[in-house]
Amino acid sequence: MSKIQLVRGTHDLIGNDLLLYNHVKKVISEMAEYYDYNEIITPIFENSELLKKPLGEYSDVVLKEMYSFEDRNKSSLTLRPEYTIPMIRAAITNNLLNYLPVKLFGVGSMFRRERPQKGRYRQFNQINFEILGTPESSADAELIILAYEFLKNLKIDNKIYLQLNSLGDLNTISKYKNILSDYYNKYKNDLSNESKTKIVSNPLRILDSKYPEDLKINENVPKIDEYYSKNANKMFDQVQSLISSVGITFSVNNNLVRGLDYYCHTVFEFKTDELGSQNTVIGGGRYDGLVKTIGGPDIPGVGWASGIERIIMMLDKVDKIKPLVQVITIDEQSKQFGLNLVISLRKLNIKVRYDHKINIKKSLKHANEEKIKFAIIVGESEIKNNNYTVKNLFDRTQLILSFEELLNALQS
Ligand code: HAM
Repeated sequence: MSKIQLVRGTHDLIGNDLLLYNHVKKVISEMAEYYDYNEIITPIFENSELLKKPLGEYSDVVLKEMYSFEDRNKSSLTLRPEYTIPMIRAAITNNLLNYLPVKLFGVGSMFRRERPQKGRYRQFNQINFEILGTPESSADAELIILAYEFLKNLKIDNKIYLQLNSLGDLNTISKYKNILSDYYNKYKNDLSNESKTKIVSNPLRILDSKYPEDLKINENVPKIDEYYSKNANKMFDQVQSLISSVGITFSVNNNLVRGLDYYCHTVFEFKTDELGSQNTVIGGGRYDGLVKTIGGPDIPGVGWASGIERIIMMLDKVDKIKPLVQVITIDEQSKQFGLNLVISLRKLNIKVRYDHKINIKKSLKHANEEKIKFAIIVGESEIKNNNYTVKNLFDRTQLILSFEELLNALQS
């Protein structure tokens, strides 16, 4: 029989990773609640048409990474590669855009057919925040501060640095793209093969190329900040001074362009040196034309997403809460009495393990291995006398207790 295998680039979340996943989700869900974001959960697939245009026809995601398939009625569906567009689609579909701004939060699986490597999966989980309907740069700052506080709450802020850039307004971007195409055309023969294909279609992406031959050419590339409008300059200054005022440090990286095509004005990434080449833990920015492109009103938006797998890789181990008690029944007749005890203890939020077995030796061995403190043994004499034999497996003492005495002992 052939070995059963996991699909390449996917992973099971189990054991410590799952504990950490739940921890991260709990921390961010609580933050979303008191930062006043509304959670939404959208379907994991959308109509392919919804995603293609706003993500950019020449973006890597659309060209190479989408999991698209034909439905039985011949319509094309795509597993969501990111959450911003589905969230905006949901806001439009559910008429959420009547009172602005709308603040949305979502956690879920995304799918991209990228080359798998450390920190890069084909199915991964993202945390996502979006503010729809405010042009104010304070919304950008609010989101960056939220991201920073999230990393702080997870105690990994010291392993992370923040980079900012502004892509200016939509005019600046199209003007700058032409300037870049002209510049890169001059060095066409020296660029990496991948970058050559982007000179016309997506020259911004050559800016963040990691190929050594491109890095050299990028040393003298025209900088985007020379082409900002007055308003773009002002907005970027405001974002920087707002986040500085709360003590967040950052650097401006004019080559930071992000991988998706819908951004303008502020873009930012929280990065780390701990994860190798997949070093962006949180990425986001402003996307003022996107809601309209999707078919909604002409309102601005800004947001970020964080890959939970990458966050988990930076966290220390967490300890699972161990059961406090193992209940052991020693014959068939005591099973009912034992199960009643298990139920009563669980109602009092005491974590109990019960194996449904009647092998006292094996159960005790298991309890010892799992470092469970108390074993409660239930047999004929316990049922007759309505009491419990309680073994403290740590100090090897044993007591016979009534139910009330047992509860007092466990709760202390
Ligand atoms: P993104 O940079 O494509 O942005 O992804 C955001 C984060 O998701 C990354 O920084 C990384 O932590 C994680 N991530 C992305 N791809 C993978 C992968 N293959 N495996 C593991 N983790 C991954 C967006 O998705 C935008 N929608 C963010 C946004 C929200 N911008 C505005 N609002």
